[in-house]
Amino acid sequence: AETSNGANIFEANCASCHIGGGNILINQKTLKKEALSKYLENYDSDSIQAIIHQVQNGKNAMPAFKEKLSPEEILEVAAYVFQNAEQGW
Ligand code: HEM
Repeated sequence: AETSNGANIFEANCASCHIGGGNILINQKTLKKEALSKYLENYDSDSIQAIIHQVQNGKNAMPAFKEKLSPEEILEVAAYVFQNAEQGW
């Protein structure tokens, strides 16, 4: 299957900590739907925007990506995370 741009951005920037939609540093704060709904602020009201906010600004041990990825790349990786959360990683 063709690999999407979002998948490539995820592999290059996120998979080191979030391989398979997990979290190697804080293991309950995964990218699975239930965890996003529980831990990520505003996920239930505006899922993609909530992921974008986290990627732009980072949080605690997660680095910010707003100087590293373009707005278009951040949107693509956020959409990829959302799609995988919905489908099941
Ligand atoms: C949390 C996405 C890169 C470490 C999260 C959350 C999202 C996310 C959506 C919220 C999860 C939740 O609360 O259940 C991403 C994306 C990345 C990325 C899309 C790449 C652009 C990284 C990297 C690291 C990392 C490289 C490690 C150096 C963490 C940590 C948390 C977290 C520690 C928990 C933060 C806290 O609430 O204290 N990430 N992440 N992330 N991520 Fe990332």
